[in-house]
Amino acid sequence: MKKLYIRTYGCQMNVYDSERMAEALGGRGYVTTDSPEDADMILLNTCHIREKAAEKVYSELGRLKALKAGKPDLKIGVAGCVAQAEGEEIMRRQPMVDLVVGPQSYHRLPELEAKAGQGEKALDTDFPVEDKFEILKSRPKAKRGPTAFLTVQEGCDKFCAFCVVPYTRGAEVSRPVTRVLDEARDLVERGVREITLLGQNVNAYHGAGPDGADWSLARLIRELDRIDGLARIRFTTSHPNDMSDDLIAAHGDCAKLMPYLHLPVQSGSDRILKRMNRSHDRDSYLRLIERIRAARPDILISGDFIVGFPEETDRDFEDTMDLIREVRYGQAFSFKYSTRPGTPAAERAQVDPDVASERLARLQALITEQQRAIQDAMVGREVGVLFEKPGRMAGQMVGKSDHLHAVHVTDPRAEIGSIARVRITQSGPNSLAGEIV
Ligand code: SAH
Ligand code: SF4
Ligand code: F3S
Repeated sequence: MKKLYIRTYGCQMNVYDSERMAEALGGRGYVTTDSPEDADMILLNTCHIREKAAEKVYSELGRLKALKAGKPDLKIGVAGCVAQAEGEEIMRRQPMVDLVVGPQSYHRLPELEAKAGQGEKALDTDFPVEDKFEILKSRPKAKRGPTAFLTVQEGCDKFCAFCVVPYTRGAEVSRPVTRVLDEARDLVERGVREITLLGQNVNAYHGAGPDGADWSLARLIRELDRIDGLARIRFTTSHPNDMSDDLIAAHGDCAKLMPYLHLPVQSGSDRILKRMNRSHDRDSYLRLIERIRAARPDILISGDFIVGFPEETDRDFEDTMDLIREVRYGQAFSFKYSTRPGTPAAERAQVDPDVASERLARLQALITEQQRAIQDAMVGREVGVLFEKPGRMAGQMVGKSDHLHAVHVTDPRAEIGSIARVRITQSGPNSLAGEIV
């Protein structure tokens, strides 16, 4: 048996893809290992979203060079969005790389591995017509942990002015309904209780249904809701413009759909939103949040923010801070704008990096405050918790609440994969603690 080590960077879609790649190479006799030193093949599944993420790949390749020097048969491959964006350039900068494969070509990995095995350079960054997921269908019926990702949609047609995703992942594509349902049932048979549907714009899902009609994400969720043994459904990431009435309603009437919604807005300034090509404004976002909360009052909203986007003034930034105060986020990811080659915003007047850092620190302080307040308010409440793994203390289990908070419980009834009602007794910096009721 040959050993495969995969290091995954970036978003959850990469996590899902890494699992598929491991399975594809399983067919070539590979088993996965947790240690790069043991590996016969190392794959970096990379992210291109910000400059730092992309540069990490080259520093990692620099380190791997030493490993390969002592082990000439070791094969090194680069997959993911940096592979797509930079292609051959990677092999030029780091000639010891044997294989480069873009996210749309993973089903061709076995052939690429064979080619690399013969000492040839293997490169594939096509956008092929065939469905990689159909070919990458998971083979072994191995048992799984209680939670799983399931990619239902890929790519993006929105072209926000700062973002590389439409270039690295290509145009929006939805997987057919039956394949998604089959994969979900298979996951449940293998022990999965919670499925997170993934897509760069997951709520734009419009997969071909068995009845010949295009199914929306809401319709797909309502069908998944009927799978026995599946207890929880989540989805991410959503775009404000694709939040249909039906999807909002599903948050109110679909028992398995969890009360958590990641709905990035990026900025609270109309001027900047326009410059970002977000095609929604501040007010439409705020009204959307109101409608979602009307359907599911206890829903926890999370978001993404970019500060220091080209031409962002103090006034624009204060608009963002105001929007955050109005929404009250349970969680948020915030980033300093990073110039990405080839995107429209890269050509514009950049904000002073020190000013951007200062804004980011203030924004993050506000988010942390909100996050803590919402978390602290869980104390005394009863929530559902799905137990995922042992905690650090003896006898302790960690799980996720309906609202995606980490919850610690010390109770022999808290078995991995079980769901219990838990009364929250404590709120710490990053997690809650409670007792099974
Ligand atoms: N499809 C998702 C986001 C995918 S990228 C959406 O539309 O919300 C994840 C996050 O990375 C984005 O929400 C954005 O906040 C951040 N991001 C993307 N490009 C960036 C850039 N050039 N600089 C800084 N942050 C960026
Ligand atoms: Fe990027 Fe915008 Fe598409 Fe999200 S919607 S992936 S931020 S271009
Ligand atoms: Fe990164 Fe590609 Fe995901 S750029 S965020 S790994 S889609």
